[in-house]
Amino acid sequence: MPDLCVIEGDGIGREVIPAAVSVLRAAVSELHILPAEAGWECFQHRGVSVPPETLQAVRGCRAALFGAVSSPSHKVEGYRSAILTLRQELDLYANLRPVRSLPRLSPRSDVDLLIVRENTEGLYSGRERLEGDTAVAERVITRRASTRIGRAACELARSCGVTRLTIVHKANILPLTDGLFRDSVREVVRETGVESGGISVDELLVDTAANQLVSQPQRFGVLVTTNLFGDILSDLAAHWCGGMGLAPSLNLGEGIALAEPVHGSAPDIAGKGIANPIATVLSAALLVRHAWKQPHIADRIESAVRSALECDLPVVEGSLAPDLTTDAVTRAILARLM
Ligand code: NAI
Ligand code: MG
Repeated sequence: MPDLCVIEGDGIGREVIPAAVSVLRAAVSELHILPAEAGWECFQHRGVSVPPETLQAVRGCRAALFGAVSSPSHKVEGYRSAILTLRQELDLYANLRPVRSLPRLSPRSDVDLLIVRENTEGLYSGRERLEGDTAVAERVITRRASTRIGRAACELARSCGVTRLTIVHKANILPLTDGLFRDSVREVVRETGVESGGISVDELLVDTAANQLVSQPQRFGVLVTTNLFGDILSDLAAHWCGGMGLAPSLNLGEGIALAEPVHGSAPDIAGKGIANPIATVLSAALLVRHAWKQPHIADRIESAVRSALECDLPVVEGSLAPDLTTDAVTRAILARLM
């Protein structure tokens, strides 16, 4: 009986999470759900964005499904983004962001890549300060974090059966930080012998990687990169899924995982009942596959999404019909699961 901590968060998190939970309940027997709170609204009424009992609940369940939270883009005393807190406190060091073409919605039919983003350090180290009129952010890269993300990427490249693993960095401009990242990943590549298993390993500077993700995304298998580069490249690559409402992700640590859609709380559409739940449903499938190690159930959920898109859901000019409701999409997926 798997335990799942469910954190809706803010905005459309409250709409897409119940949708994904209903799909999970239909696919996974005897699922035990523990709701918990986090986010901006939680901060406003409790003074903390991730209460200690939420951390405890995720630690107890070893698995969580997270919607999205809002964050102000100015500094608010005492506030720290809930998702960053969860990633750091739970040491969720690998962020898996697959980008796969989806029927009728993707602008191309041949994309199947996985961005493996380092999730705990880099420019997300939280070390930002003002020195008079100069603002400084420290970009921290360690051998330990680079090695373990390299190891995760090599294992995923093997298990996903890809033929190419690309190390993405900017070591020409950041020879110490990105030099350490690149060298640590190269070392893992040597140690694990991943190349002898038919996977070719190459490197790209992040700007060239961005260009190639636009011009020839079909050439990529697994990409491994630092935190901010992974954040930006995965939003860019999400275009090939067919949009932000379709891009899933999974944060992985040692024996613990948190699934979340790549998108945010979407205040522009929150409360209208039209948020696309597919990114969250596919994130839940990632959790089932990689954390609960139930690939046949993950396959069933992903196939149900694909069939619903192929056969049931109205598509207008390459996008889901704008008035299509979260409920209607969820019902179509559930019908295909049965
Ligand atoms: P966003 O991802 O929330 O929205 C970007 C655009 O995509 C909007 O037009 C939105 O309507 C659309 N969109 C997003 N998800 C959708 C869905 N499921 N269905 C249909 N359309 C969807 O990014 P934005 O606007 O930059 O940020 C809004 C808030 O979300 C901010 O407070 C930001 O800090 C937060 N955020 C939170 C994240 C998280 O919790 N992991 C990640 C990214 C942003
Ligand atoms: Mg992002």
